[in-house]
Amino acid sequence: MTPYQILGLGSFIPAKSLSNDDLAKIVDTDDEWIVTRTGIRSRHVLDDSQNTSDMGALAAQQALNNAHISPDQITHVIVSTCSPDHLCPNTACLVSYQLGIKGAMAFDLNAACSGFLYGLEVAGGILANRPDAVVLFVCAEALTRRVNWEDRTTCVLFGDGAAAAVLARSPQGLAQVTEVCCHADGRSPDPLSIGGGTAFHVKNGDPVDENFFIRMEGREVYRNGVRRMTEMCVQILEKTGLTTEDIDVIIPHQANLRIVESVASRLKAPMNKVFVNLDRFGNTSAASVPIALHEAMEAGRIPAGARVLLTAFGGGFTYGSAILQFSAPDAAD
Ligand code: ACO
Repeated sequence: MTPYQILGLGSFIPAKSLSNDDLAKIVDTDDEWIVTRTGIRSRHVLDDSQNTSDMGALAAQQALNNAHISPDQITHVIVSTCSPDHLCPNTACLVSYQLGIKGAMAFDLNAACSGFLYGLEVAGGILANRPDAVVLFVCAEALTRRVNWEDRTTCVLFGDGAAAAVLARSPQGLAQVTEVCCHADGRSPDPLSIGGGTAFHVKNGDPVDENFFIRMEGREVYRNGVRRMTEMCVQILEKTGLTTEDIDVIIPHQANLRIVESVASRLKAPMNKVFVNLDRFGNTSAASVPIALHEAMEAGRIPAGARVLLTAFGGGFTYGSAILQFSAPDAAD
């Protein structure tokens, strides 16, 4: 692929936090079960006054500031989400409107939890075709709006949040996107689905049923998550002629600590190379990898010159991986 740069990053996490003990007051669960099975201790929930596009715009504004790019320089806006404000208009148009971006191409992309990897691949294609493009790439999810709060098998897993990146062909930036791999394995019936599309038949005044919400066959998703994220890491390492030892930091999709540990073990990567924040945010789907990437950077967990491996797996099934080369100290100055 033609390499390009991440010029700036931003993220937004809603203020309201919901602990496992808070959830135990709503459904038949407890902190010990959730922590032992998932590693999640709390998740953040979007305020009623905000939607996915609002979180996306807040993260995007931070990324623009970080990149020193103004809204009028943006040529393309991509929003990765499986929890858009509406089926139409797309969330990217709503984010563009909030930021005062006029005339840029704006579209949504739905690859569930693999949304960041898919967006990096799509942006790479745009930037290869149009070397002067400046892409604002946002991942935003409000999955707690589609959680069935009566289903303890899913409602404990998800949280809300957003992250954004400014992407361009440039000699310098925070990090170079050097390679991306993305694949899918479509299934029917879906082991993981979120209702509200046209397959959900509803007339004005009808109540919604359980099909409207997130439904998941946890074990099937778990098995495939471990297998596919491991495969994607191996594939991208082979493609780039690298080994696990050449990677400084691994940032996986933050769905379940046991999945993360299994993938790390199969790659023979020590857990001190793996960045984990799912204990505080739960699974924020497409936003999970870029929120973790931004947090790892801010926390000083990514040294200058580091090579970072990203991987994700999600509904579809979709899966992907990417390698980022962070700038060396002199280039970052
Ligand atoms: N609290 C207490 N007990 C519970 C809870 C809960 N919150 N949820 C389920 N249980 C019970 C079940 O009812 C079951 O009880 P039973 O044995 O009496 O029937 C028991 O716990 C075991 O349930 P399992 O589903 O077998 O538990 P498992 O160990 O598989 O863990 C989990 C479930 C955490 C969902 C796991 O399967 C998982 O993480 N799956 C993958 C999720 C994921 O990675 N998603 C990523 C994609 S998301 C996206 O793309 C939008």
